Amino acid sequence: MVAILGFSKDQVTAAVQAMYADLAGDPRQHFHFPVGRSAARAVGYPEETLEQLPEAAVTRFVGVGFPFRAGVVREGDTVLDIGAGAGCDTLIASSLVGENGKVWALDITTEMLDQLQTTLTQAGIRNVELVEADAERIPLPNHSVDVVTSNGVLNLIPDKRRVLSEIFRVLKPEGRVQLSDIVIDRPVPLGGRSDPELWAECVVGASIKEDYLALFQEAGFTDISELREFDYFAESPSADTRRIANGLGARSIDISMQRPAQALSPGYLGQLARRLHPRRLTRIGARGLWGAVAAAAAVFACYGLVALFGLLSLMGLSLTLPEGLWAFAILAAAVLAVAATALNLPRHGRPWPLLATGIGAVLIAYALFVSYDPLLEALGFVVLVGAIGWDLYQVYLAECIPEHRRRLRQAKA
Ligand SMILES: C[S@@+](CC[C@H](N)C(=O)[O-])C[C@H]1O[C@@H](n2cnc3c(N)ncnc32)[C@H](O)[C@@H]1O
Repeated sequence: MVAILGFSKDQVTAAVQAMYADLAGDPRQHFHFPVGRSAARAVGYPEETLEQLPEAAVTRFVGVGFPFRAGVVREGDTVLDIGAGAGCDTLIASSLVGENGKVWALDITTEMLDQLQTTLTQAGIRNVELVEADAERIPLPNHSVDVVTSNGVLNLIPDKRRVLSEIFRVLKPEGRVQLSDIVIDRPVPLGGRSDPELWAECVVGASIKEDYLALFQEAGFTDISELREFDYFAESPSADTRRIANGLGARSIDISMQRPAQALSPGYLGQLARRLHPRRLTRIGARGLWGAVAAAAAVFACYGLVALFGLLSLMGLSLTLPEGLWAFAILAAAVLAVAATALNLPRHGRPWPLLATGIGAVLIAYALFVSYDPLLEALGFVVLVGAIGWDLYQVYLAECIPEHRRRLRQAKA
């Protein structure tokens, strides 16, 4: 699994801990992401809020947005700050909840928590407790917090589904979430996730926005509101990071959501229904995958149904398929695959995959309706599937490889 996805959780965690330990030690070093007071101003922290925070926390600020825009923290609340870092958000939450409330500051990097402890001691703050842990396993009881806040952290965590189910678990019914994080528009190119340092810089671990929002829904959250999007990486001091982020359409987003009062964890069918949410289906189109879906349906309609009916007859259930209808279903799926390839044409501008899918569909139609030949039919499927793969490769080149994108833009201009 790890090899297929191109990264290892242990390597990512080690890179994240090394980078944020460095930052806790000396925030004036050169980092590829915005750091400190100017970064906090840029993402939207009001000047008067920053003025009230200790300098040691502000100089180590590395959030990507302003989650308090959501305005969901109240006096007396118990708040969990996930990936608290040097604690700007922890300290703001501490003053909002007051002495009757409490803030858990959770982080995986010991040096960040040590730094935060020093700040808390110097400022005499007593309603904050530190938790050294991985957000994928939050050591707090079920239904124990009113608000979860997090800033620039979820993109760093490989198993986002697991973190969200942990957040859902520790929240009380009607508990609130305020979150700032990075989202992207285009999938990270193959192999791009294998660089742990790019993960630690908040770039390649981010999810496509629609997938990310769909994860919240799958986890059971409601009232998911997008509060603001911001071109966070434009503030990066590194031209390389700006270029990579720009290629992926990376930006930050402030979000709020809620755990519903009826806090039933979604069952298997509920989760399936959420995965089939229209927001997810639009991703199939956005990734240019409808052709692959239609080709898979054509292959299944042809060979899968033969295998299925053969199996049923072995089990004593003899069913027959109306052959005309069957042949039309196969051809319809093949024609849909051609149509889907035509939809991808403007994305990469190469007509050859479309021509090849057309040839595949014609071969299949000929074998089915003019002169049946199983070899010709199989050849038609090979051409169709191969052409769809070619088409997807062209979409990938055009949208994920910057030089190809540039060339395509120039050709269009
Ligand atoms: C980009 S910094 C943000 C820090 C802080 N929220 C802020 O706004 O300055 C990310 C923080 O998340 C922590 N972190 C990364 N992965 C984590 C994980 N799996 N569990 C808990 N904390 C994590 C890092 O140690 C780091 O302090």
